[in-house]
Amino acid sequence: MVVGSVLVAGGTGYIGSFTALALLEADYKVVIVDSLYNSSIEVINRIELISGKRPAFYKLDITDEAAIDKVFDEHPDIDNVIHFAALKAVGESGEIPLEYYRVNVGGSVALLRSMEKHNVTNVVFSSSATVYGDATRFPNMIPIPEHCPIGPTNTYGRTKSTVESVITDQIEAQRNKAKKAGKSGEEWNAALLRYFNPCGSHPSGIMGEDPLGVPYNLLPLLAQVAIGKREKLLVFGDDYSSKDGTAIRDYIHVLDLARGHLVALNYLREHHPGVKAWNLGSGRGSTVFDMIKAFGAAVGHDLAYQVVERRPGDVLDLTANPSLANKELNWKTELTLEDACRDLWKWTKNNPNGYNQSPPKEFLEE
Ligand code: NAD
Ligand code: WQD
Repeated sequence: MVVGSVLVAGGTGYIGSFTALALLEADYKVVIVDSLYNSSIEVINRIELISGKRPAFYKLDITDEAAIDKVFDEHPDIDNVIHFAALKAVGESGEIPLEYYRVNVGGSVALLRSMEKHNVTNVVFSSSATVYGDATRFPNMIPIPEHCPIGPTNTYGRTKSTVESVITDQIEAQRNKAKKAGKSGEEWNAALLRYFNPCGSHPSGIMGEDPLGVPYNLLPLLAQVAIGKREKLLVFGDDYSSKDGTAIRDYIHVLDLARGHLVALNYLREHHPGVKAWNLGSGRGSTVFDMIKAFGAAVGHDLAYQVVERRPGDVLDLTANPSLANKELNWKTELTLEDACRDLWKWTKNNPNGYNQSPPKEFLEE
């Protein structure tokens, strides 16, 4: 039995693919749209290998409203959207800001316009902890609660906080419009999910993170060191005021994060809260040195690193206070850093070329 239908924009990407899998496993119908700008079509095969179900897929650009319209026309049963499609490289966002606003903000506007035309009323949006900027500028805001004032310090983060506002205004407008027409309008709902640092892979070793081009996030870089594609990790600064001098982040297993989307969507459908922001993090902070150690333990040997200057724009501590999601969504992380490191290593070993190769034989023979 299908419990609902979801358009997953950006669904062949890292977090989107795991969320599509979680949705299929929870008996949602899934329609993925993605331009494949930063992902591979092979993801669809892997999702099917694991779940036994194949999501529908359309290659389209999220800024192309007419193309989105067509998908909704072909799938009139879609009543929910989970929106991952975006550009996400912080450094690049400062170099080509207009492209980031065009895709991240313009793409969201196109999607919301198409949703409005087709009366698709629930949206779950991939926001980011980066919207908080440096929360240490306030007293008592670490770990970071949702009421921490937002203040992104880079272009990418500003596209995310802008889309949060766009969605909030749109849901409010649609609710008001419905009320004026004598209806409740409560079918219009949005979840703004502020993720902390996603990492890890599927425990099967056949789904994981495979960014096209050079990675810039810590774990994919560490994986390259472990597999010999990179000589050493450059540690960006050991002069922060943390226990070992390196910066603190809240790393969250992508399976826990994907489940967060499922429970947030279910909450919107059940409770009709309007617009809600939730932090999705573990509540535990780990330093860069903690991560080098944890991943080294999974790999079975120490990983080479060299301390260099701080990376411009980095902050000391981004650790979530996830108690709102714990309470309202009954969601908390279940997997540990060790689980994430173990799964990432399995994915890396099995797929040295990422999705650009067939799945390991045992999966094809089963
Ligand atoms: P990803 O790059 O793996 O996934 C994004 C997907 O969007 C890709 O498949 C890409 O091809 C697609 N896409 C990009 N531009 C598009 C366009 N114009 N039209 C259609 N599709 C397009 O990234 P991810 O890590 O899975 O991130 C997913 C979402 O979560 C993004 O919105 C990102 O900003 C947000 N986010 C990511 C992190 C993180 O650390 N990975 C943290 C917080 C928030
Ligand atoms: C983690 C820690 C680095 C690489 C970014 C975005 C954020 C969100 C997640 C999308 C930091 C250190 C890293 C390296 C290092 N993405 N590091 N050497 O910066 O916390 O967050 O990704 O929304 O918006 O800003 O993640 O993985 O880049 O870095 O020492 O080669 O590892 O300084 O302390 P970050 P990251």
